[in-house]
Amino acid sequence: MMRLVVVSNRVTMPDRGEKVAAGGLAVALRSALEQHGGLWFGWSGATTAEPATSVEPVRHGKVSYAVTDLTEAERQSYYLGFANRALWPLMHYRLGLTEFNRADYAGYLGVNRRFARLLIPLLKPDDVIWIHDYHLIPLAAELRRRGVTNRIGYFHHIPWPPADVFSALPFSATLISTMTAYDLIGLQTQNDVANLVGGLVALCGARRDGNRVKAGQREAVVQAFPIGIDVEGFRKLSVASVRAATQPVRATTAPLGSRKLVIGVDRLDYSKGIVQRLEAFGTFLRNHPEHRGEVGLLQIAPPSRSDVPEYAELDRMSDEVAGRLNAALGEFDWTPIRMVKKAYSRSALAGLYRRAQVGLVTPMRDGMNLVAKEYVAAQNPDDPGVLVLSRFAGAAQQLGEALIVNPFDTHEVAEAIRTALAMPLSERRRRFERLYATISSTDIDWWTSRYLAALSGLDIPSGDIV
Ligand code: UDP
Ligand code: G6P
Repeated sequence: MMRLVVVSNRVTMPDRGEKVAAGGLAVALRSALEQHGGLWFGWSGATTAEPATSVEPVRHGKVSYAVTDLTEAERQSYYLGFANRALWPLMHYRLGLTEFNRADYAGYLGVNRRFARLLIPLLKPDDVIWIHDYHLIPLAAELRRRGVTNRIGYFHHIPWPPADVFSALPFSATLISTMTAYDLIGLQTQNDVANLVGGLVALCGARRDGNRVKAGQREAVVQAFPIGIDVEGFRKLSVASVRAATQPVRATTAPLGSRKLVIGVDRLDYSKGIVQRLEAFGTFLRNHPEHRGEVGLLQIAPPSRSDVPEYAELDRMSDEVAGRLNAALGEFDWTPIRMVKKAYSRSALAGLYRRAQVGLVTPMRDGMNLVAKEYVAAQNPDDPGVLVLSRFAGAAQQLGEALIVNPFDTHEVAEAIRTALAMPLSERRRRFERLYATISSTDIDWWTSRYLAALSGLDIPSGDIV
């Protein structure tokens, strides 16, 4: 039987008691690997003075983990520099925040080469290799260059921007052309597929034939596979968490009494629209003073990539905006916004989502956004809350029964909060049932098996390496 080899920059090992919020990729891959078994290769999250020349896998249950440290210079150039100051903002359509520098790009290519060298000795001839996310775009080309002929798939967890935006990146044509070393490229939405294919055609002269893209001797299939969550697992977690009234759930909800709760859960990242959301909540309270003292916003925002200056600036800005709104709108016995900048367990989140009347998911741009799906999964079917969702989250392509908003329009988001709080039970149930049916029929098992079936079922022509 074929073995699955998953490669991603971020790996979460089961025994680590991770203190950081891992983000959607690690949450999804852990679910997928626990189901299928296999090898998970990537960065340990730590740094070392001496880069390793080999990696020894460690087995936990059905999954073997092979992780390696980065040097501090690699972390700076590959992870903080090129991946998170150039590619991340670029892919999220934020040219104004995109910082390119050649040394960082060289570091990025260097780590991809080193990962290829470390991975090759661990590979078996029948392995199916599945590489994840923007940190590792050139990895397949590096593996092919060293003679790897296995099937190699790629999944891009974040948005892919239009060719015109992508082409602002120096070396964009070289970087995008390495993607044709993959056999199957998965993206979150049709829009991302159209943008990537448009980029391959415009920047490296690829030809399109249905969902296949041909460049030189290579051919890749490009297709949308919207990522899902473990819906049933998350639903059970939410019921158990509320029933047990675990500490974070009790401590958060007890002081609320009969007050209503609006919840936001995001890594502290400018793509998530946290500052704009706080402003929208302030506008809602200003425009609808009858709700003052009656409803509060709980924003959970664990710090992320804090060594990147744009993230440090967001940290400061969000404190400032929350402080200003609380001072202007609060009362001696009521604080409108509570923002906690630390990571919570999935069980605590599940209980809090279930307790919240409104799930506020308003990214300026997001690949999918798993929090939107988790919020739905955690609702009580008899008395469900309402999801307010940005049209720029990939999830909006599937979750049309949410209240869909434009996060750039503060007034519209404020009105959606009011509409959600006033929504009659019958309408809440009707919307919830459809949303729940959608997330159940496209859950994490559906995503993994559909992707892997496509990767292993491909009719792959032999061809030269890019
Ligand atoms: N998450 C968590 N603890 C937190 C905050 C977030 O476990 O304190 C999880 C959350 O439940 C979700 C993931 O991190 O599964 C975030 O995924 P999403 O796709 O929403 O955003 P990303 O962080 O990947 O951009
Ligand atoms: C997003 C990205 C992932 C990344 C995660 C957390 O979900 O798509 O690739 O792992 O954010 O970010 P971090 O930089 O901590 O890995």
